[in-house]
Amino acid sequence: MAITREVREISSDVYWVGVRDWDRKFFDKLVPLPEGTTYNAYLVQGEDKTALVDTVNPGFEKELEEKIRQVTDPEGLDYLIMNHAEPDHANGLSHMVSLAGDAEILATKKGKDMALSLYDLPEEKFHVVEGGDTLDLGDKILEFIEAPWLHWPETMFTYYREEGVLFPSDFFGAHVATPKLYADEFGEDVLKRAKDYFGEIMMPFRPRAKRALDKLEEYEVNTIAPSHGVIYRNPEKILEAHRSWTGAELDEKVLIPYVSMWGSTAEMVHVLRETIASEVDAVPFEVSSQNLNNLAGELVDSAGVVFGTPTVLAGPHPQIIYTATLAKKLNPPTKYFGIVESHGWAGGAVRELSKLVEGTSGELLGAVDVKGSPEEGDLERVIELGEEIAEKVK
Ligand code: FEO
Repeated sequence: MAITREVREISSDVYWVGVRDWDRKFFDKLVPLPEGTTYNAYLVQGEDKTALVDTVNPGFEKELEEKIRQVTDPEGLDYLIMNHAEPDHANGLSHMVSLAGDAEILATKKGKDMALSLYDLPEEKFHVVEGGDTLDLGDKILEFIEAPWLHWPETMFTYYREEGVLFPSDFFGAHVATPKLYADEFGEDVLKRAKDYFGEIMMPFRPRAKRALDKLEEYEVNTIAPSHGVIYRNPEKILEAHRSWTGAELDEKVLIPYVSMWGSTAEMVHVLRETIASEVDAVPFEVSSQNLNNLAGELVDSAGVVFGTPTVLAGPHPQIIYTATLAKKLNPPTKYFGIVESHGWAGGAVRELSKLVEGTSGELLGAVDVKGSPEEGDLERVIELGEEIAEKVK
């Protein structure tokens, strides 16, 4: 018995044929996905030709096929557009090629090379496109927009001219599996999801993201249909958010990722928070109990970061090592750093964390290391660090 799965028309003759992955727990094994994710694929049906924009993650190929069948025979697809070669959007190409034997795969030159190295696809199926190239479906024109390094080198956008629908692949995405198809159905919280996602996926490439946003100024964009999360049919808010996240202005905010074993570090973080919060925003982030995807979102606009850790076996607590390493790799725009540390008999965490902070765009303002429980003089040093960083981020 055929299963009828949800297919939605999002614009004239444009269908969402994506899938929801409710159970995905991690992405790239880097950050948790507490709400799963979606792999959005779109069918654009023209008078003469039909194109599929992106495919789905391994394991969802049959679901994609079933959804396409509700609109048209997949065997008759003319074009398979690959905006991005990562497996969550391109792995399904092999299945689609096995169905649609005459379809061409449209991708950038780098996209073609990457797809051939990752998947078992016939080279002759590929047609390389460049920014500004168009595809005529009869009554619809699709235009390809160069947008490399979002977040792989080969990425591009596809733009449906007549209706102003942008298919930006991963850009503007959010990791959330939800029955709500549109951002306006999901509610304001969508911007928080999008910000966490931006921090995880796009923040390391902020200059590229800014360049792509500048390029989009030339286009009338009425709908943004990304590869993850919800669709924006009133895209001004999400565009404005991305302009802010890629801009030079940061929030007057200090993020405090910390972990405490016996309470000394937590006591210092408490005093630090009180000091900072009297001047600017202070956001403590207890790393053993909070999701690191939220940390990525907080890093997007925090002008200051203070790590708090005990020394464990001559170095920072391993959870703080991972957090600081991840934060460094995500290349946040943080301007000022600080460290508070407690140890039982010998320190070591400050030295190692200082090395991790080196090479970021930020300046390490100071470190407070404390033996045993913090005493009044120790907490005065914490207050001094808090006052200094609060003053700097203002
Ligand atoms: Fe959603 Fe970069 O793949």
